[in-house]
Amino acid sequence: MSDIKIKITDRDGVLHEVDAPTDMNMNLMEVVRSYELAPEGTIGICGGMAMCASCQCYIKSDHSLPEKSDDEEAMLAEAFFVEDNSRLGCQIHMTDALDGLEVELAPEEA
Ligand code: FES
Repeated sequence: MSDIKIKITDRDGVLHEVDAPTDMNMNLMEVVRSYELAPEGTIGICGGMAMCASCQCYIKSDHSLPEKSDDEEAMLAEAFFVEDNSRLGCQIHMTDALDGLEVELAPEEA
């Protein structure tokens, strides 16, 4: 069992510091869901396939993240509220390198 600490600011601007396991093959969207930091049905709509952007978040810390896949790039090109530091949470897998990551959930589309 190994955990990393992540700071997540929810859509109401409330900061949550949570432990995320690195040994369960979880992604950031699943971590947000597991702590219920966004209402059911507003995040992870496509199930983590990089096809909905409901898991968009802004990366606030300067961790170096894996490059975006073509699917992630394409989805972010169509999404709302996209900033330079936008990523799809479902494409960010929890690894030891992300200890201390700080993210903010993007506003809900729709
Ligand atoms: S959950 Fe749909 S793009 Fe991430």
